[in-house]
Amino acid sequence: MSQTFRALRVHQTPSGTSARIESLGLDALTAGDVLIRTRWAGINYKDSLAVTGKAKVLSGYPRVPGIELVGVVQASASPEFAVGSDVIVHGFQTGIDFDGSLSELVRAPAGHVMPIPPGLTPRDAALLGVPAFTVALALDRFEAAGLVPAAGAIAVSGASGAVGMAALAILRRAGYEAVALSRRADWVEPLMRLGASEVLLVDAAVDDRRPLERGRFGAAIDNVGGSVLSWLLRSLSDHGQLASVGNASGIAFSTNVLPFILRQVTMFGIVANAAWPVRRRLWGRLASDWKPDLSALDAHVREIGLDDVPAHCEAQVAGRSAGRTLVRFDTA
Ligand SMILES: NC(=O)c1ccc[n+]([C@@H]2O[C@H](COP(=O)([O-])OP(=O)(O)OC[C@H]3O[C@@H](n4cnc5c(N)ncnc54)[C@H](OP(=O)(O)O)[C@@H]3O)[C@@H](O)[C@H]2O)c1
Repeated sequence: MSQTFRALRVHQTPSGTSARIESLGLDALTAGDVLIRTRWAGINYKDSLAVTGKAKVLSGYPRVPGIELVGVVQASASPEFAVGSDVIVHGFQTGIDFDGSLSELVRAPAGHVMPIPPGLTPRDAALLGVPAFTVALALDRFEAAGLVPAAGAIAVSGASGAVGMAALAILRRAGYEAVALSRRADWVEPLMRLGASEVLLVDAAVDDRRPLERGRFGAAIDNVGGSVLSWLLRSLSDHGQLASVGNASGIAFSTNVLPFILRQVTMFGIVANAAWPVRRRLWGRLASDWKPDLSALDAHVREIGLDDVPAHCEAQVAGRSAGRTLVRFDTA
């Protein structure tokens, strides 16, 4: 097949990496038995690190980054996926070991491809994507350890980001009170509309003086790391749980043993990947009893073109982006 298409690829250079938009043939892509025409690619923080070269995310070069996509099957060697069907791909090292979503065409192994869950349109699935799946993994784990809405509010840091917004909206739908933690005073109203019962501004709320804070949160979803994560750990109530999701402010944090030995708090990490039984079950919940108010989320979605991706990624790693960004392709 002599089809050519546009893709953003990252190359290794003597001084680091460089990303550029190229015209490729299918043979340039990593192998896969399902050929997908991309409709939307969600840009995640990790993609921005890969595109800007600010951290080593990609396992080889040249590589098309982009860890999630919604698209339509254009050709398939797998009987599971009919031509013309709508699918979603994320996880399984997409955009890391395998060429990813920042491309008009993507070849994916059939074992990485999922039909759009019933109850969601392709755009709904793109809107939710990895951020919502990440939140679902955290909430599932909280509940498996016994969390119920009566245990108290769930704190969400980096609230104006894609994971933070999804968390507020999903927690509201699931019946939990969510408290947003944000650097952005101009986002107080939007965060309340998304689902926060209260917005705490980081500069005013977070300080490092006390070994324990008032135990006020039944659980926390941390997207930021650093002093915010330290404060959240010290602010959990007895048996509180903290899901460490992200590192938007950096990878380091400091703590002390008191939250653990006086309040028996638990901290665990989330990786937005899961084997099929968990993946299907959680997408099923995102399409039903955890399905958030999609119009509230959509109000903070920015759609950009492939050519706009490098500039967006620079802004995101500099902490100058907010909301969710989707790359929209011609077939969307
Ligand atoms: N573990 C996983 O599988 C998984 C999955 C998805 C994402 N993540 C990670 O989770 C984090 C959030 O992802 P995202 O997609 O929501 O990213 P995002 O859209 O860029 O949002 C990050 C948010 O963090 C806050 N922030 C940014 N820079 C900061 C800084 N220097 N100091 C303090 N706060 C800062 C901002 O919120 P405010 O201005 O409102 O404070 C920003 O909106 C990222 O680190 C990402 O890599 C991990």
